[in-house]
Amino acid sequence: MTDSQVVSGSETSHSGEVAESFQDPGIPAHVPRLGDSDPKAAKRSERIVVALFALSVIGTIGTLVAFFTLPDDTSIAGVRTQNVTLGLGLAFALLGIGLGAIHWAKTLMSDHEVVEDRHATASSPEVREIAIQHLKDGAKDSGIERRGVLKGAVVSALALFPLALAVPLIGEVGSDWNIGKFRHTIWRRGVRLATDPTGRLIKAADVTIGSAYHVIPYAEDIAEEVRPGTHSWIDEKSKAIVLMVRMDPRELTESEERKDWSHNGIVAYSKVCTHVGCPVALYERQTHHLLCPCHQSTFDMADGAKVVFGPAKRPLPQLPITVDDDGYLVAQSDFHEPVGPSFWERLK
Ligand code: FES
Repeated sequence: MTDSQVVSGSETSHSGEVAESFQDPGIPAHVPRLGDSDPKAAKRSERIVVALFALSVIGTIGTLVAFFTLPDDTSIAGVRTQNVTLGLGLAFALLGIGLGAIHWAKTLMSDHEVVEDRHATASSPEVREIAIQHLKDGAKDSGIERRGVLKGAVVSALALFPLALAVPLIGEVGSDWNIGKFRHTIWRRGVRLATDPTGRLIKAADVTIGSAYHVIPYAEDIAEEVRPGTHSWIDEKSKAIVLMVRMDPRELTESEERKDWSHNGIVAYSKVCTHVGCPVALYERQTHHLLCPCHQSTFDMADGAKVVFGPAKRPLPQLPITVDDDGYLVAQSDFHEPVGPSFWERLK
């Protein structure tokens, strides 16, 4: 028989073959569970359900304790410890509720097989009435009214679990939801420009016309918690990353206020696309165009990194640069405005 049609008796399938008849095998014989006949087994099942909901409660409490007691360590190891601890707490909190509910249904609720014929998708009012009745019967069947300890366990688990999600969020109420940290980078006056990823300092005299550099900030006195190798450094570097190019100064178009933001044809702009934040890194030397590989926004490095094509809505922020007494390229300040997508404009 093909799988094109299920038939009973002797009928013809879509493919024209004569289908074989079969007998409805019916429902397999019901095998009673141990707990159906043995009150001790039923009690044991109840204890397991209580234990699983208690596990959820422990998971929730563990999550909260970890949230409040773990040190605010921003090293990679510290952040991993926080993630693993909070993750395990949440996992146990959810797993306990899920397994408890399944075990309860499988071992303590009625074990009758139910056959339901196929019918139209929309239910009639009578069927809905029956469904409601089934829910009521189910609630009655769960025995929640008579099993006080079990009721307490499930209510505790369900009532406490939302705290594991809500408390960290409540901790942010009143803050700017950490958006403030996106307004500034670690660039400031005197921070030297270094190549990414080697960290080699860049002397202005070594930058030839037509060259392009991927640049990161370097400073002796950079704060301990944002030094290379820390978890925060990855955050900070991804905000502070710069693309620096040198061109013939005569090709540069600079507004009056930005006249001293470049050095001898060397200009530095944020590498974070102002569309949705991809790294813009494809520099076209002849046209001085910088292309974002994500959605093809194109910026003119010779003219204030203005958008000449694509969905980005504003130029790349510029990093004002100069040289220090030793001839190294240094920043004059942070970028002239926040880097990346223009979330901050909408919050004004
Ligand atoms: S992220 Fe650069 S164009 Fe979309």
